[in-house]
Amino acid sequence: MARTIEIEDMTTVGTLAEKLSLPVTKLIGELMKNGVMATVNERIDFDTATIIIEELGLDVELTRKEVATVAPTREKKIHSDSATERPPVVAVMGHVDHGKTSLLDAIRGAHVAKGEAGGITQHISAYQIKQKDRAITFLDTPGHEAFAAIREHGAHLTDIAVIVVAADDGIKPQTLEAIRFARKAGVKIIVAINKIDKEGADANRVKQQLAEQELLPEEWGGDTVIVEVSAKTGTGIENLLDMILLVTDVEDLRADEKGPATGLIIEAHMEQGRGPIANALIEEGTLAVGDFVVAGTTYAKIRAMQGSDGSALKTAGPSTPVVITGFKSLPEFGDEFNVVKNEKEARAQSEKMFEQRKTSTGRDMSSSELLRIINRSNKVQELNIIIRADVQGSLTSVVDSLKAMDTDEVAVNIVSSGVGSITENDLHRASTSDAIIYGFNVSVPANIKRLASRDKITIRLYNVIYELIDDVKEGLSKLLAPEIIETDLGRLVVRGVFKTTKTEVICGGEVTKGKLTAPAAARVMRDGTQLAEVEITGLKRGPQEAKEVFEGEMCGMSFKTTSRVDLQEGDHIELFSRQTVTRSL
Ligand code: GTP
Ligand code: MG
Repeated sequence: MARTIEIEDMTTVGTLAEKLSLPVTKLIGELMKNGVMATVNERIDFDTATIIIEELGLDVELTRKEVATVAPTREKKIHSDSATERPPVVAVMGHVDHGKTSLLDAIRGAHVAKGEAGGITQHISAYQIKQKDRAITFLDTPGHEAFAAIREHGAHLTDIAVIVVAADDGIKPQTLEAIRFARKAGVKIIVAINKIDKEGADANRVKQQLAEQELLPEEWGGDTVIVEVSAKTGTGIENLLDMILLVTDVEDLRADEKGPATGLIIEAHMEQGRGPIANALIEEGTLAVGDFVVAGTTYAKIRAMQGSDGSALKTAGPSTPVVITGFKSLPEFGDEFNVVKNEKEARAQSEKMFEQRKTSTGRDMSSSELLRIINRSNKVQELNIIIRADVQGSLTSVVDSLKAMDTDEVAVNIVSSGVGSITENDLHRASTSDAIIYGFNVSVPANIKRLASRDKITIRLYNVIYELIDDVKEGLSKLLAPEIIETDLGRLVVRGVFKTTKTEVICGGEVTKGKLTAPAAARVMRDGTQLAEVEITGLKRGPQEAKEVFEGEMCGMSFKTTSRVDLQEGDHIELFSRQTVTRSL
């Protein structure tokens, strides 16, 4: 009977050893054998633990300990009496090309969608607008499948999700995903059926599909707010905004304007001459120029602050999206920020976080990584790449998408990745690891371009994510060993052996199946086991050389062999052709 042991999703090497009643050194040793350098306090995931236990040959069955997971939603804070009404944060989500950005453009009277690379949104952006003198904060999220991480992030930042569905296309995979994320994050859903101006638009069909997802329209007796709109003509947009305010009133959103600000980083990137730029959303309190702000492992003394319309701000209150300059290094998207008293405290807090991340999540080993390491001995071909992206969010998306392409045979090995333009250091790394450098929405300084061409380092620049992914996929495909297809041609049963040398045999027999041709590859078989693989060099029908001999005919045959074959009467010779076919992922 196998022993059952319960562990959490992530467990430290020490705890696992204890539960298995194994010396920790033994476990570390086994991990090392598998190429994982882990210390006692490092954490491995459930699947890794399962693999290692199997490798150790232990009669133990692991079960996952259900940890009460707290859904990472914006927690409903208990507010003091001074809490006042705040604007709603509304994420616009949905399938690619269903018109999220166009809808926001229509709401803002701007033209963002037209200027986007590849016509798709690739990171979160935030805008605040006024409707009937009340502010609404919108987050635009990407719909392309590659950006799940960003979308999930968007749902978490949000009070209300507007799920956009194109009336001519209906519910699609990322629509379903958006509904799932919104539900998981516990936010109110409003559905905007867009493109109702289009030929082929069928709002009723969309409502039907929504009903199947348990989003029953109010007109059908449900409680889902569904608005028909057209970003192109402007139809229904006023109505959508009114609905958002209505839902807001029901939600009774409040925050304390007083006190030091807290909030979340939604995006961060480097800008020439300005350094790290962070887009942040304030949740509580008021943020002011000159404040010291800690976000994850970095901090800022806020040098300047802008609203989503580009206007300079001195202070900003709850639910306001702001652009902050002054960070020492790039904060990570998703990091929470908070204001502290002075620089000393800011530095201390960010350093503490740095240490924490280094020892915990920083070195978590995922099972796929481990499997890859184990498989590496079984010849996984790796494509080494270095990735540079404009902002943290797209970097995460690119890296996630590339990792998802790994197979048992080929894998992407990300030598390094970072935000900002390509550096000399990247070139060094590329040349020592024989890597290709991919730039996503970044530029290459002229001196780097020169060095790269001198050192023959490949730099590929993209500004549309799926084009980059396709390119990597092509590179991976080239690493796949070609598939070898063997086709049976025919079979001969040996009736006489005329000459046998170390390298050649001449024999005669009857074709019992198919057709024999020369030259061809063949297997010499005796009682169902293979004696040798040989190469047929000639065929004779009577005294005449023949190109082909058919089933039922008698023939002479000569073949070349690399090791001596003592052919006997009754052996079979099976001819086949071999083709190599290149494969693709
Ligand atoms: P991603 O951000 O890439 O997920 O796309 P999106 O949902 O933001 O879509 P986007 O706003 O970029 O619009 C996609 C295409 O649909 C564009 O060509 C728009 O012009 C078109 N479009 C958007 N809304 C409407 C609409 O109401 N009517 C019509 N006819 N076309 C629209
Ligand atoms: Mg968009």
